[in-house]
Amino acid sequence: MNPTGGGKENPQDVSRRRFLTMLGLGIGWGGVTATLAGTGAATLRYMVPTIRYEPPTIFKIGKPEDYGVGVDNKLKKERQIWVVRNERGLYVMVAICRHLGCTPNWFQDQGRFRCPCHGSIYDMMGNVVGGPAPRTLWRAGVSLDSVDGQIVVNFTQRQDPDPKGTPEGLMVDERSREVPPFFIKL
Ligand code: FES
Repeated sequence: MNPTGGGKENPQDVSRRRFLTMLGLGIGWGGVTATLAGTGAATLRYMVPTIRYEPPTIFKIGKPEDYGVGVDNKLKKERQIWVVRNERGLYVMVAICRHLGCTPNWFQDQGRFRCPCHGSIYDMMGNVVGGPAPRTLWRAGVSLDSVDGQIVVNFTQRQDPDPKGTPEGLMVDERSREVPPFFIKL
C-alpha cells in the first residue's frame, strides 16, 4: 500500500507481498509432496505384502526306523515335539506343559517329563503324575506319507482326552490313545 496515495508502491510492501506469496507456494508444495509421499508408501505396502516367517504346522520328520524305542528328544527345540516309540508303534507328543505352557524336559533316568516352571510331572505317555497340570500332554496328528514313507506331523491336530483322577495322578487309558490319526502302528 502506498501511504502517499501516488502510483508508486512502497518497496517494503512489495517485498512483504513477495515473501507472503513465496511462503504460500512453499506450504502448498509441501502439502502436495507429503500427500504424494503418503500415497507412494501405501502403494508400496500394497505391492510388497508383509511376509511373516512362521514355522510350518505340517511337516515331515523322517522314517519310523529313524526312531528307537523310548522318547526321542532331538526335535524338541526345532519343532516343539517328542517322538515316542513303544512296542506297538509311534506317537508324537507336544512339548508344551498343560499348566501354563512352559517347555518340560525329559529325564531318561526317571522316565519322566518335568516342567521347570511350577513342577508338573508327566510320565512317558503324557499322564500327569505330579504338580498343577490339569490335563495330559497333547499328542499331535501323525501319518505316513504314501510316497516317501516319512512320518508327517500335523502340529495343530491335537489329541486331548479327559483324564481320570487316580491315586497315581491324572490318567488316560493308553490303548484308547493309540488310534489314528494320533498313532502309527508298526
Ligand atoms: S507351566 Fe508347567 S508347571 Fe506351570
